Amino acid sequence: MSSSSPTPGTNQSWGGRFSEPTDAFVERFTASVDFDQRLALQDIQGSIAHATMLARVGVLTDAERDAIVTGLTEIRGEIERGEFQWSVKLEDVHMNIEARLTDKIGITGKKLHTGRSRNDQVATDIRLFLRDEIDVVEAELKRLREGLIELAEREADTIMPGFTHLQTAQPVTFGHHLLAWQEMLARDHERLLDCRKRVNVMPLGAAALAGTTYPIDRHVTAELLGFERPAENSLDAVSDRDFAIEFTSFASILLMHLSRMSEELVLWTSAQFDFIDLPDRFCTGSSIMPQKKNPDVPELVRGKTGRVYGHLMGLLTLMKSQPLAYNKDNQEDKEPLFDTLDTVRDCLKAFADMVPAIEARKESMYEAARRGFSTATDLADYLVRRGVAFRDAHEIVGQSVAFGLREKKDLSEMSLDELRQFSDVIDDDVFEVLTLEGSVAARNHIGGTAPDQVRAAAQRARDALAALGR
Ligand code: ARG
Repeated sequence: MSSSSPTPGTNQSWGGRFSEPTDAFVERFTASVDFDQRLALQDIQGSIAHATMLARVGVLTDAERDAIVTGLTEIRGEIERGEFQWSVKLEDVHMNIEARLTDKIGITGKKLHTGRSRNDQVATDIRLFLRDEIDVVEAELKRLREGLIELAEREADTIMPGFTHLQTAQPVTFGHHLLAWQEMLARDHERLLDCRKRVNVMPLGAAALAGTTYPIDRHVTAELLGFERPAENSLDAVSDRDFAIEFTSFASILLMHLSRMSEELVLWTSAQFDFIDLPDRFCTGSSIMPQKKNPDVPELVRGKTGRVYGHLMGLLTLMKSQPLAYNKDNQEDKEPLFDTLDTVRDCLKAFADMVPAIEARKESMYEAARRGFSTATDLADYLVRRGVAFRDAHEIVGQSVAFGLREKKDLSEMSLDELRQFSDVIDDDVFEVLTLEGSVAARNHIGGTAPDQVRAAAQRARDALAALGR
């Protein structure tokens, strides 16, 4: 049998040295086309750049390059129109597209793979794909941050109880609370942009693992594909999946933050808190309890956090102890990464849509802040300003609170005489510090909860967001 006609039934891409076809189960077991076809457009983009570079250095003729580029462009149309016939027999996205190219343009199609391997090809495709997706995720993150800043400004004067240990601690402004969420997301945003830098490095040219004997110019390909630079080391280039782990770790921290916000939203919509209202369009009802309006969107975001953590553990474990360079294990990188991307994008969209629609129940928040002796620290600080040592002031206020609990009175509801039984340094002016408005306004320094500080902080956040970028 001549060397150009493979043994019947063996794989047309690599079956030359095989004497029997692949086992039917093994064929299905080792194939990735069912999920890696999501990389099709990036695969074509990478192939066009590769062929262009090969022609530039004289490995392909211009006519060969043109045939390849035209064929690949047509295939892209077939994929976009949903006409492309994917075949498990052809294992993965790369070989499906290459086989179709050869169908269309004949022998020249077989020259496309000159000087590359699926190992550098797949690593390049994932990076191109992730880079595009990061830009979509970033836009949603930005939209959410803008929504939070705007809402915080609107609620800069709204008073609510601040909590530690989920017990009423001190009054804060709702705007201040919202800007705390915004800070979490600002850090996530920086992590995302930092991750993008390491995604944007090009493996192509590493070939299988050692580089190639053709006179390739990796700077040309990198520039055509918008990569920052070619990867330094061919062994590392085909085996590195740090970028996928980094993205998933960014996603895990982001979802952890969204789960914390979700938890608070869920609590606040309950009848027991009654701090906010979420519009009906973000909620669902119960099929048995007619009165129910459930905060499904934040609940589901809270729940989805778990699957993203799972993907992070999955990817870390996938890479653990892998010897250099490429190993088939790496085919398992795609599904967790794709699912992480889909989950993050959906959760961010849900939040970015929902946040501007949050309605504060101001009276209810105010009442709750009044109930829990939330200005006790203010009374202690007042006593300190009048010369009482802080520890003694703490004790005096503790006794006042105990009295209030017995008499069912907040500190601001006690008479001057009632307060003076615990300390005679207390005067009429004490009531200024015992009001909720006085309490929040007094915390008037950078990072404090005073309404003026919240407005200034919102402006700084808006400026910082506008200054971010590449
Ligand atoms: N489907 C493979 C993957 O996702 C592509 C690279 C395969 N390389 C190989 N030598 N079998 O990792």
